[in-house]
Amino acid sequence: MAYYVTTPIFYVNAAPHLGHAYTTIGADILARHMRQRGEEVFFLTGTDEHGEPVAQAAEREGVTPKELADRNAERFKALLPRINATNDFFIRTSDPRHKRAVQDVMQRVHDNGHVYKGMYEGLYCPRCADFKTENEVGPDETCPIHKIPLEHQREENWFFRLSAFQERLEKLYAEQPEFVRPKARYNEALAFITGGLNDISLSRSKITWGVEVPWDTGHVFYVWFDALLNYYTALGFADPEQDLTNKFWPARHIIGKDILKFHAVFWPALLMAAEIELPKEIFIHGFLLMRDASGQEHKMSKSLGNVLDPFEVMDRFGTDALRYYCFREVQFGQDGGVSTITFGERYETELANELGNLAGRTTNMLIRYADATVPQRDPDPELAQDFDGLVEEVSALLDRTEITQALDRIWQRVRRLNRYVEEHQPWQLAKDETKADELQTVLRSLAEGLRVVTVLLTPYIPESAGKLLDALGAPDIGLEGARYGSHPGGQTVTKLAPLFPKPE
Ligand code: MSP
Repeated sequence: MAYYVTTPIFYVNAAPHLGHAYTTIGADILARHMRQRGEEVFFLTGTDEHGEPVAQAAEREGVTPKELADRNAERFKALLPRINATNDFFIRTSDPRHKRAVQDVMQRVHDNGHVYKGMYEGLYCPRCADFKTENEVGPDETCPIHKIPLEHQREENWFFRLSAFQERLEKLYAEQPEFVRPKARYNEALAFITGGLNDISLSRSKITWGVEVPWDTGHVFYVWFDALLNYYTALGFADPEQDLTNKFWPARHIIGKDILKFHAVFWPALLMAAEIELPKEIFIHGFLLMRDASGQEHKMSKSLGNVLDPFEVMDRFGTDALRYYCFREVQFGQDGGVSTITFGERYETELANELGNLAGRTTNMLIRYADATVPQRDPDPELAQDFDGLVEEVSALLDRTEITQALDRIWQRVRRLNRYVEEHQPWQLAKDETKADELQTVLRSLAEGLRVVTVLLTPYIPESAGKLLDALGAPDIGLEGARYGSHPGGQTVTKLAPLFPKPE
């Protein structure tokens, strides 16, 4: 089966922060898991380079938009190997191939009769690149997200007949209750639709940094149309050998809640207008919030200046720790607070102690008491019960993008293995020759249980999982092999350096 997953494309008006890494790691966990299942995966991310947010930031810095985009796109690209993201392609919307494809699709929308010229008048946030509807305006005509004054704008624009899609969108939501998840976001999007849709501005004539409207070259497309289409255009040119559209389209989108309206309302309407198949699912995650000195929580963002630098975090604790923490601490799909304090706590108790010590102890005991070889015998059926159905459980949760719940199920087994060590105390068994047989079964069971949880943890903590599986002499990460007892044993075990050492 083909599996196509996307992240939002990131504005290049500033450098990447943890909020961006969060979306990308989430999509990466899904992509890695699906590859483990043998699916053919395409994982896309990239940068959103046009429009006012970028043009204005460039002006502030005294460079051209293209210079700013080139510089910051590199920073977003550089983040990917650092967070161990396995994206198959990186799209930049300033790519001429993307621009041509946008023009083709939009020309079709035009020719299908879904656009008209009109006068736009209203309140606009240049940071969101969004025209605000009445109930989206904050106190004193400010942007509720960026807390900056909204601008009164009046200009001649091309409009997209969004209002004409109201019924079809309502039908879509009725027929596909999982089109948008989690449920609260589905309800929010549906309420926006049933509340009545206004036509939306499709072009701007005051700025030039964008994709030219092919039927009226004095205009560029409103950045959101150009941006949303990246998910579709990328498949056309990501592989120089072949067009991947038929193979991978439609996509599953992972996005943050701030861009719900664009993805859950505008995007399906635009695709309907262009006669393109709709996405399979849109999963909306919440915000990572930072606590300020007074205990209040805020969205991390460049404009509020309260960002946690993911590079700094990874330098101290490693990439896996960041990946693990973000999806363990905050349920994917909800908002949640992150802080260096809870980060440190989880690192020590869960990664270093619960997993790291289990891994260190198990490999050491195998080396010491079993000649560095996993005993070739049946593992303890007592543990088999606790691992029964785990692969199916985790797969089913990840099919629904329930990344935190899946991690929780795996972690319950990490804890189960620690209890197993305490219950059986292999170092005591080793002192009693009459218990030699029991000791070998205990070691075999620990090795097998640890192998299974590690295969399942691979999408979350790929680097550490790889080291651990190598030490266990069982590097295969295929999900079929993640069943307790499916490995025959007999493999050589090697010494493992601490997976999660005390940070400097
Ligand atoms: N360029 C648009 C998206 C276009 S997609 C066709 C955009 N870019 S962004 O760089 O501002 O944000 C990209 C994503 O990062 C959004 O989904 C946003 O929710 C996410 N995050 C930014 N800050 C965040 C947090 N503090 N926490 C979690 N995610 C947040 O919007």
